[in-house]
Amino acid sequence: MRISSLLPASGAVALLGAAVFVCASIAQAPQTPPAGGPARQPRSYPAPTNLQVLPKDLTGNQVHEIMEGYEAALGKHCNYCHATDPKNIGPNGRPRLNFASDEKDEKKMARIMITMTEDINKNYVKKVADIDKMPEMAPPVTCGTCHQGHEDPPEFKPAPEH
Ligand code: HEC
Ligand code: HEC
Repeated sequence: MRISSLLPASGAVALLGAAVFVCASIAQAPQTPPAGGPARQPRSYPAPTNLQVLPKDLTGNQVHEIMEGYEAALGKHCNYCHATDPKNIGPNGRPRLNFASDEKDEKKMARIMITMTEDINKNYVKKVADIDKMPEMAPPVTCGTCHQGHEDPPEFKPAPEH
């Protein structure tokens, strides 16, 4: 009973990665305006408003850290999943992204993938590891485990037999 109540947390840890917790402490550091102007300030991202599968209590910086992981895992930028907002033009003259918008199918697919990855770790990898009784757990399955830096996971090609 006690162990199973811990599982959602370990699933979340698998998705977030250790870097998030380092970032969280930076996010909570008091913000004093530095002499160099706002550009030198460590960036603080706004709290999310539309999380449906990630833990709702993540800070803006934690969300950002996770998103950079998706970028690397799929070899895509933020705009692969996030729609632009034509009414919100940035200083470079191009529309900014509306991160809370659910307009893009890629974002919807990514939500399914987030839930799937959590499920794999919590309900499958964990059970095998329990039987295995290895002193060290294998690293959790992440987006990168399958995607390997690509939009579609590359096909496995077995080494030619000798
Ligand atoms: C592979 C798709 C994907 C990529 C790439 C991606 N995101 Fe996301 N992002 C998502 C999904 C899915 C959610 C919603 C998660 C949920 O519903 O719990 C989200 C949520 C967010 C949110 C929270 C919005 C809100 O208010 O709820 C922010 C901010 C965000 N992403 C920023 C970024 C940034 C910045 C990048 C690039 C560094 C990025 N994302 C790259 C899929 C992606
Ligand atoms: C167990 C392997 C596996 C894991 C883990 C995984 N994916 Fe996928 N993903 C796939 C497969 C397989 C497809 C289907 C590709 C296709 O459309 O043929 C896919 C498709 C996608 C697509 C749609 C791509 C397209 O071509 O339209 C997105 C976006 C995506 N994954 C994001 C993620 C994110 C974000 C994560 C981590 C939270 C993740 N995936 C974890 C296997 C995986």
